[in-house]
Amino acid sequence: MSAPPSPPLPGTGRTAVVTGASSGIGAATATRLAAEGFDVVLGARRMDRLTELAAALGARALRLDVTDAASVDAFMAQVPRVDVLVNNAGGAFDARPVAEADLDSWVRTFEVNVLGTVRLTKALLPALIASGAGDVLFVGSTAGLVSYEGGASYTAAKHGVHTLAETLRLELFDQPVRVIEIAPGMVRTDEFALNRTGDREKADAVYRGVRAPLVAEDVADCIAWALTRPHHVNVDLLVVRPRAQAAQHKVHREG
Ligand SMILES: NC(=O)c1ccc[n+]([C@@H]2O[C@H](COP(=O)([O-])OP(=O)(O)OC[C@H]3O[C@@H](n4cnc5c(N)ncnc54)[C@H](OP(=O)(O)O)[C@@H]3O)[C@@H](O)[C@H]2O)c1
Repeated sequence: MSAPPSPPLPGTGRTAVVTGASSGIGAATATRLAAEGFDVVLGARRMDRLTELAAALGARALRLDVTDAASVDAFMAQVPRVDVLVNNAGGAFDARPVAEADLDSWVRTFEVNVLGTVRLTKALLPALIASGAGDVLFVGSTAGLVSYEGGASYTAAKHGVHTLAETLRLELFDQPVRVIEIAPGMVRTDEFALNRTGDREKADAVYRGVRAPLVAEDVADCIAWALTRPHHVNVDLLVVRPRAQAAQHKVHREG
């Protein structure tokens, strides 16, 4: 007879750092992990939002700019213990075809999504290993698994995040650290599409006619589920889309 499944791993007694916790998926994840009993540390640049949310959750808010080495050092110094790192800070900043590539936008996209993620992961890895049961979770994207026209700055960066997760998992094969990637499809958050298009109307058009895009809480639910599996269970990659998005280009729109 096989052994019964191990029980879920409670958040109680575990410290979780969530980057980009001032809005969208990061804020929802911080909220959900706090509800699961994690001691949550929220990191982002907009301290007003961060402080307000942290106060509501009984969590800590620390300024963090993942693109700035000094900011990461200062952050690290205030987080001596960490069991879970949720690398969520990121975004897309243009929708240009390659022929019209804005190189400054490419740099910005890679700075936050790829280099910022590497910088913070490298900084916190010794503490994650020392915890004896650590987790590095990457919020990737379906844009990291497929390509689409007009998306190259972002798809290239998120492909980078996907490769980063795969490589780190191989490198940590003999360490007590899980490496998890959650790759959402279309998620309706307040700022993501606005940052990408720079225009409210264009941002709204991304979701037009889609009855139920994912919301930040749906992704937070996946993140919390993956993090609370027994620690020998590593969810390598979880792809999650709204039912209306059968594939990147195949989206059911009504009306
Ligand atoms: N929405 C979607 O459709 C979707 C789909 C798949 C994957 N994703 C990914 O999910 C993650 C969250 O997206 P979202 O939709 O929640 O977007 P969002 O609301 O724009 O959140 C982005 C977060 O990243 C933070 N951030 C940006 N630059 C930062 C920096 N240099 N240092 C620290 N934090 C920084 C922002 O906070 P501050 O500005 O306060 O620093 C903000 O809290 C991103 O990695 C995104 O690529 C989103």
